[in-house]
Amino acid sequence: MARMDKKSTLEWHMDAGVDEATGDQPVNHFKNPESAIGNQKAAFPPPAAPQSPIPNSKPLHHSPSAAMAAARELADKATTLAELKAAVEGFEGCALKKTASKTIFSDGNPQALVMVIGEAPGAQEDIQGIPFCGPSGQLLDRTLASIGLTRAENTYISNTVFWRPPGNRQPTPEETAICLPFVEKHIALIHPKLLLLSGGVATTTMLKTDAAMSRMRGKFYEYGNPYLKAPIPVAVTYHPSYLLRSPGQKRLAWGDMLMIKEFLNRLKLKE
Ligand code: URA
Repeated sequence: MARMDKKSTLEWHMDAGVDEATGDQPVNHFKNPESAIGNQKAAFPPPAAPQSPIPNSKPLHHSPSAAMAAARELADKATTLAELKAAVEGFEGCALKKTASKTIFSDGNPQALVMVIGEAPGAQEDIQGIPFCGPSGQLLDRTLASIGLTRAENTYISNTVFWRPPGNRQPTPEETAICLPFVEKHIALIHPKLLLLSGGVATTTMLKTDAAMSRMRGKFYEYGNPYLKAPIPVAVTYHPSYLLRSPGQKRLAWGDMLMIKEFLNRLKLKE
């Protein structure tokens, strides 16, 4: 097998979800015969005795459908944002939680006109505990600000899942399905005038469609869920991390923002 160079090795580790070094000094386990694979006995201390279960730990759900049912039951019961946040923080049914360092619930004004649902927290979000606080969040903020939307005043932000997927991969359909009851209750509690889905994962998850973003963007749809008495308008646009990779598409995203601005202006006229 060809030897991997240092950059590919690092990338391989990052793709596998490794984002932190645990020792101060790198150890080459291939060079030192004491620690070579096959002689691990000498290199590593004997395994610790099995730990007794953590007191008060919540039971894990043994199948995705059990986790979805548990999430639904918790979401059904939550009647306030604080209750929903506590339910999400205490939920043990999504495997993403095991590799993430924080639960990332939301940011912005709960009285918002517009609620944005993104894909999943990334590395910066996992450190700071705030959705969209890294480079793509900065672009999202600039885009929203261009039509008068800010987190402080009139925008509320969350994601399809509440924990960072390892290595910044996309959340799987199973992970988004497990978190969906919480997201649905979240939307109902905020009850925005407009839901804005940022990127393909949010669009597929919330609108249950496989249609390409290029077909979906530029229009309004109706969004309903079991907790909403009546559907609310929804629009979709490109995810800011896609726009950072493909700046040529910013023109289309700008078109989406103008469409949203017009919609919000019409709302103001009606009030
Ligand atoms: N990308 C997202 O979709 N959500 C975040 O919170 C950060 C980056």
